[in-house]
Amino acid sequence: MTGKSSITLPAILVSSLWLGTVSAGEAVEGTAKADKLKSCVEPTEVMRRDHFEFIKHQRDLAVHQGIRGSKHSLAGCVDCHARKDAEGKPVPVNAEGQFCDSCHDYAAVHIDCFSCHSTVPGEK
Ligand code: HEC
Ligand code: HEC
Ligand code: HEC
Repeated sequence: MTGKSSITLPAILVSSLWLGTVSAGEAVEGTAKADKLKSCVEPTEVMRRDHFEFIKHQRDLAVHQGIRGSKHSLAGCVDCHARKDAEGKPVPVNAEGQFCDSCHDYAAVHIDCFSCHSTVPGEK
């Protein structure tokens, strides 16, 4: 690893250009921002129970008035909950076993949000 330090910066630039076109590897535990924090945007109990209420499209305030960057933005969920692979590439938050898929798979919930919304941080 140490011998590679001279290529670190270009590697980061290249991988950020490739977001979305190169599939990410295995997610590494502890690499999501959320892994380092104690609480969600609402108390965890509330999020567990009601998270979908916060991000539904009929909160059309958000959609029609273009309010963004609120604490309930979907991009925010992705930004904080997405993990990275061993090379630092973000792993889609809805990939198998990843945060948004983990309980949904179990609960047989299917969401189609990510056909339009980005599954990794930093993409619009
Ligand atoms: C057909 C495309 C499409 C689908 C599918 C879709 N959205 Fe959206 N969504 C949009 C557009 C367009 C906007 C408004 C543009 C913007 O703010 O980026 C938006 C805005 C939002 C916002 C407010 C802005 C933000 O970044 O938070 C939330 C929250 C949101 N959508 C949640 C969801 C959720 C949850 C689902 C799945 C249940 C979903 N969307 C499915 C197109 C879509
Ligand atoms: C700034 C970081 C951050 C953002 C933004 C964020 N979360 Fe969280 N979220 C966390 C943390 C940290 C936890 C774990 C709290 C704990 O362990 O008690 C959590 C917990 C959760 C849980 C409960 C998980 C469980 O195991 O019970 C759900 C569901 C959740 N978040 C969904 C969302 C959704 C949906 C959004 C977007 C509206 C979102 N989060 C935005 C940090 C974040
Ligand atoms: C702690 C487990 C858990 C996590 C983590 C979780 N969900 Fe959920 N989600 C559920 C359950 C359970 C339901 C079904 C709730 C119901 O219908 O009563 C659900 C439902 C939803 C729905 C509504 C689906 C529908 O058809 O009505 C959306 C949208 C959603 N989740 C988005 C997300 C997003 C985005 C993330 C990641 C940021 C996420 N969830 C993470 C457990 C979870």
